[in-house]
Amino acid sequence: MLRCTRILTAVLLIASTALMSAQKPDAPGREWWKRAVFYELYPRSFADSNNDGIGDLNGITSKMGYLHDLGVDAIWISPCFPSPQVDFGYDVSDYENIDPMYGTLKDFDALAAEGKKKSVRIIFDFVVNHSSDKHPWFIESSSSKTNPKRDWYIWRDGKNGGPPNNWISTFGGSAWKLDPRTGQFYYHYFYAEQPDLNWRNPEVQKAMYDATRFWYKRGVSGFRLDAVDILFEDPDLRNNKVLEGKNAYGDPITDEKFNKKLPEVHDVMRKLRSAADEFGSVLIGETWTSNVSELKDYYGEHNDELQLPMDLMMTEFKGLSADQYRKHIAAVNAAGHWPVYVITNHDIVRSYTRYADGAHNDDIAKMMAMLYLTLRGTAIMYYGEEIGMENNDPKSKDEVQDPIGKLGWPLEKGRDGERTPMQWNGGENAGFSKAKPWLPVPANYKTHNVASEMKDANSVLSFYRQLLALRHKEPALLEGNFQLLNENDANVLTYVRRYKDEAILVVLNMSASDQNVGLDLSPLGFAQPRLSVLLTSFHKPLPGMAAELPMEPYSAFIAKITK
Ligand code: GLC
Ligand code: CA
Repeated sequence: MLRCTRILTAVLLIASTALMSAQKPDAPGREWWKRAVFYELYPRSFADSNNDGIGDLNGITSKMGYLHDLGVDAIWISPCFPSPQVDFGYDVSDYENIDPMYGTLKDFDALAAEGKKKSVRIIFDFVVNHSSDKHPWFIESSSSKTNPKRDWYIWRDGKNGGPPNNWISTFGGSAWKLDPRTGQFYYHYFYAEQPDLNWRNPEVQKAMYDATRFWYKRGVSGFRLDAVDILFEDPDLRNNKVLEGKNAYGDPITDEKFNKKLPEVHDVMRKLRSAADEFGSVLIGETWTSNVSELKDYYGEHNDELQLPMDLMMTEFKGLSADQYRKHIAAVNAAGHWPVYVITNHDIVRSYTRYADGAHNDDIAKMMAMLYLTLRGTAIMYYGEEIGMENNDPKSKDEVQDPIGKLGWPLEKGRDGERTPMQWNGGENAGFSKAKPWLPVPANYKTHNVASEMKDANSVLSFYRQLLALRHKEPALLEGNFQLLNENDANVLTYVRRYKDEAILVVLNMSASDQNVGLDLSPLGFAQPRLSVLLTSFHKPLPGMAAELPMEPYSAFIAKITK
């Protein structure tokens, strides 16, 4: 704490490089979802109130105080609708109810009420592309070729004794399954237990829009839209081009031209958005893109599609490179839309594990936290990031729960590793449950858990809490524009967030060695700036007077700039 209040009068050196041209400050009074920090939680793994080894809604409700104190404004709960759990909830058998494993609609109401009390909004996960094969719609649809629900899914005749075309399921094998009863195949981009809905059918569209309204009325403030890219398929079912190589399941790789990112998706997003707008709600997109310009499309030509399409590109960066992050963030800002930063989620290896070097793991976690929580844009956290949870991948095939891990073992180990129980304390099952949890707790729960990190001023959790408090308090972090400094520095990422007379400097050493950073803030109008340090991850006390800012390996520094 001492360090946070200290004033560093820096004799600032001439910066090595030019300053990015100043952008106009952003307007104040943003929509709530621009100011909010979102927190994804996997309901099976967050908190188990009835000790059956699986998390539940009452468990989440009991942790609302923790979430509020952490500085979270909205929780995105991965699917908790009735489901056979083939894909752990991403196979929904009723869009307007809660799975008994997680509780009841009444429990949801209690969760929403507690959320309201603690100013934590609830975001649900809407699995739009497919239902479960146990959804009554699909059961009816598969019962006969003439059933009124037949056209709610994608049924086609086979070709030459095989499936209708060469489309591959992203979870392995052909994307078509023969139903012997009616002799036709149905289409499933994911598991066969997840048949794709036919979004060309207006009745399907209406049922799905109504489902969103059902939850908005019940207190949900928005949706994360699952797999939006694949809502439509080429009506002529043209074959995809086969590319070189095989995937982890041994299937040929294809270009997916005819079953992904079809333009019709945008009509649906506009309609989902107009339902959301009736309730002041937000739509977050699971939007996998290979570049910034692709991401732009999801906001809609007239900003009438998704408010928050996730930028998932940083999760695919290999290693830590100041230059790579700098270029990407600059491109995102230049694109002109409101950015959405994510460093991991329930499908991606935890950021702690991805970036760890064995020697500076907690430092790196803090440095990455400062990055995505101080950029201009909305940040989406993933539960456990704030305490430095690590992946706990299955050690052998028979331990695997996630079916893709069973199918793809050992190349694809599945996603169990990033979905393990939240580490609440150093006790039995990390305080998640009194029963054996559905997935094993990672080994680092003894040192990395909420209870012990709360007591340690230097823990990852304490760092997150301070950072989130700053983010909510400082106008420059909430409203400010984004300006890069020292653009040729290969090791240190430096930027300023500025709003009116407020300016905040962020310095992140992305390298494993000490770095001295020269700063020239005169082009920003600060001829003799004073830096009031707000937070650092330094191990050593900061020298009072410095010509350059000494940055420890993988350290993070944030300060207010005043004249
Ligand atoms: C999304 C989800 C993933 C799920 C898949 C199928 O990618 O994030 O967890 O398996 O959709 O619904
Ligand atoms: Ca339970």
